[in-house]
Amino acid sequence: MKPKYIVAGNWKLNKGPAEARSFSEGLSKHLGNAPVKNVDIIIAPPFVSLSALKADGFFIGAQDVYWEDKGAFTGEVSAAMLKELGAAYCIVGHSERRMYFHETDRTVNLKTAALLKNRIRPIVCVGERSEERKAGQMYNVVRFQLSAALFDVQIENPDDLAVAYEPVWAIGTGNVATPQQAEDMHEIIRQSLEKRFGIDIAGKIRILYGGSVNDANIAGLIDKEQINGALIGGVSLDLDKFLSIINSISQRER
Ligand code: PGA
Repeated sequence: MKPKYIVAGNWKLNKGPAEARSFSEGLSKHLGNAPVKNVDIIIAPPFVSLSALKADGFFIGAQDVYWEDKGAFTGEVSAAMLKELGAAYCIVGHSERRMYFHETDRTVNLKTAALLKNRIRPIVCVGERSEERKAGQMYNVVRFQLSAALFDVQIENPDDLAVAYEPVWAIGTGNVATPQQAEDMHEIIRQSLEKRFGIDIAGKIRILYGGSVNDANIAGLIDKEQINGALIGGVSLDLDKFLSIINSISQRER
């Protein structure tokens, strides 16, 4: 059986506790009336809004984590703390964190390991920049990011890990990758996962596409064999559009 799809909303620096609560109530209400069986839905709000989510029918996600359990690390949040707030998933290595907050392949690896230790599922983000694609380097860049993020990482179950392919040039630009560009990269990612975890596990790890996904372009993307869901930024802030993406995916056979 094929794994469930994932639709994850990455709210970035948007929606404080009050807004998060009312969005999540709307989402839960909708899902209560029209349950979705073949999609794992995730909302990743800012840390301060995690406990405001009324997560009925969807999973709570975080956008980042620190790898130490506790100690003198001002401003940081540990995986155990996220777990206490009900986080089931956590995004790591988002390109905005790599770009603006000096995240490196090494810290992405430490965070991935810390999450798994605390039984939170990492969504590891990889993706090339525009100049790397123009230079034909995109596959090498992504292969490297992935192998660095997963260095020494063990998983028991394919559900323990998800990978998000997010080409930097597609994020927040309206410049979505074509379904074929995404599919080609997802094949490369799948092959790397096979080498790392074996065919049985790798075949079931969810690989998401992210970067300017919306309710109009999702159908073409999700048609592709290797695309197991979407990580959605801007459009996930709008409940109707987010639901419309979920609906178009949920209508597919799994
Ligand atoms: P976008 O962001 O959907 O606004 O392009 C995606 C992401 O950064 O995860």
